[in-house]
Amino acid sequence: MNGTARSGDPAHRDSVNKIFMQTYAPSEQLKIVIVGHVDHGKSTFVGRLFNDTGSLPEGKLEQLQKIAERRGVPFEWANLMDALQSERDQNITIDTAQIWFQTKKRQYVIIDAPGHKEFLKNMVTGAANAEAALLLIDANEGVQEQSRRHGYLLNLLGIRQIAVLVNKMDLQDYSQERFDSIEAEYRKFLVSVGVVPKCFIPIAAKMGDNIASHSAAMPWYKGPTVLDTLDDFKVAALPTDQPLRFPIQDVYRFDERRILAGRIESGTLRVGDRLTFFPGTKSSTVKTIERWNAPSRDEASAGESIGITLTEQIFVERGAVAALENSGPFDLVRFKARLFWLGRQPFRKGRSYKLKLATQEVECEIESIHRVIDSSTLETVSRKENEMFIGRNEVAELVIRTKRPVAFDVHADIVSTGRFVIVDGLEVSGGGIIAEDNYPKRNTDPTTRSENIFWSHGKVTAPHRARRNGHPGYIVWLTGLSGSGKSSIAMELERELFNMGKNAYVLDGDNIRHGLNSDLAFSPKDRRENIRRVGEVAKLFVDAGVICITAFISPYREDRDMVRSMIREGAFIEVFVNAPLEVCEQRDVKGLYAKARANQIKEFTGISAPYEPPTNAEIDLKTGEQTVTESVTRILEFLHLRAEEDEISI
Ligand code: ADX
Repeated sequence: MNGTARSGDPAHRDSVNKIFMQTYAPSEQLKIVIVGHVDHGKSTFVGRLFNDTGSLPEGKLEQLQKIAERRGVPFEWANLMDALQSERDQNITIDTAQIWFQTKKRQYVIIDAPGHKEFLKNMVTGAANAEAALLLIDANEGVQEQSRRHGYLLNLLGIRQIAVLVNKMDLQDYSQERFDSIEAEYRKFLVSVGVVPKCFIPIAAKMGDNIASHSAAMPWYKGPTVLDTLDDFKVAALPTDQPLRFPIQDVYRFDERRILAGRIESGTLRVGDRLTFFPGTKSSTVKTIERWNAPSRDEASAGESIGITLTEQIFVERGAVAALENSGPFDLVRFKARLFWLGRQPFRKGRSYKLKLATQEVECEIESIHRVIDSSTLETVSRKENEMFIGRNEVAELVIRTKRPVAFDVHADIVSTGRFVIVDGLEVSGGGIIAEDNYPKRNTDPTTRSENIFWSHGKVTAPHRARRNGHPGYIVWLTGLSGSGKSSIAMELERELFNMGKNAYVLDGDNIRHGLNSDLAFSPKDRRENIRRVGEVAKLFVDAGVICITAFISPYREDRDMVRSMIREGAFIEVFVNAPLEVCEQRDVKGLYAKARANQIKEFTGISAPYEPPTNAEIDLKTGEQTVTESVTRILEFLHLRAEEDEISI
């Protein structure tokens, strides 16, 4: 009898029971999800896991073994799970808190995922916040379509800790070769969807091989057992240091008081905090924090369910997301997303659906579909323009438009307000995460400066300066791909203007990013902030009467328009430094395109990040064809004319 087969006998189980249940009272808890193709042995595996960790109710195993014996049928581990499940449904033996099994190290909660659907449904309530996953594959059948879907789905849900269990190794004579080939095939797939599995373990759930102890039948396997692996997973820290998100679930009225109740999804909330309720602009201050069955404190953080009262009564309803004034979520009617569709009916353009995000519910529809992918083959599904839809088990990159503004975050920044589900009729039919995009953020908009700050006007006015300088201030805004010639043109233009006795100054992307903007990278959000700051600085230059020449890729139209709207009409001169990507890439002065192609630079404009050409530029320079001098001359001519309109000569 080998060591693992022994773990099924009652005496052994009792001793395990004692060791685990009595000596240890682990306080740490990890939520896991176990997924696999229907016949790949999930119930058997879970049954075994319970048994081998001594987590079964006293006498349960023996009872079922006896029943099987009496009926003359072989005992099945899977039956054990069914029995427990039905008892649990009646709330008899198993604690409803779902603390299911424990090892020496900690307790494990299995998030039951009998189907995708329940899993997705739980996603939005936060109940399915699994921190790790075990993926089962049948060694006999190998990688199935569903195995691939599961991998994709887990990644989409942001579950990064994944171990793959290749089950039923006994039916393959414990063959290392078989295991290796399954591992190679599935690993390749997972990596292609962005999942790096922690390990692959060959097991035979029925026999208990490699579950709690190493199997004598597979001496070639030197890796960890399932329990080792579980205990090695990390418990995710609660997002207490992220921006506050407190979605309101209910509003209770007691006498005069109104209590806003909900669960803090991220961040920390304190008495005295000034909260804004998104979507919208209503604000008030936290007066008290109320807890149920717990002493009150002046502070609460992520993971806690609380109620709050406010100093000024404002009308707030379920769905509102409370956040601190200056670090709120986006508050918009459209967002970009990645979505997994499970509905029987496809997700169609032109139809209206319900979107649920945190506690918000709002009508929505598809604005545009950018890509549809089959989640098992990962191939792009090609469909005619006029019949765009997302079918069952397909994943899509799309833009969703809502009827009313929704408060949301990018999933990579804040998980709980960065995911949503789509309800078709009464059924949760799809779930998704919000992708990064160039979303305008209210509190970085120049139009919403704090109410209590005023612009102080000096005694020297713009016309005074213009008269002395011989010209007013302008922004010559050069935009274009890296390598299109922005800096060369800017420097040459500055020199020319200087020689003509004008006040000119260049703000250059690379230089500014060394100093003022050294804290920014190249995400759409950072680029927007880059441009916003540069815009503000350029605006000050204009006020000082200087011709400010800026050389920034500034790939987003909206960002450039934002700067345009910041200064007086006519003072913003947008110059499209228009060289084709091929030309820029061929020049590759800084060697960055080569690096971007080799994937060493992420989000590189033109290669892996977008560039939106201007549609209303004052000047379009074809720098693939014309020289720097020709370009500078064009700009100078334009400036002469513009200055004439401004009744000043340049
Ligand atoms: S912008 O998009 O935010 O306007 P900016 O003009 O400030 O960009 O900076 C662009 C310069 O940064 C490029 O000329 C290049 O030298 C360097 N750079 C480094 N990484 C990237 C990247 N991922 N995309 C574009 N430029 C990059």
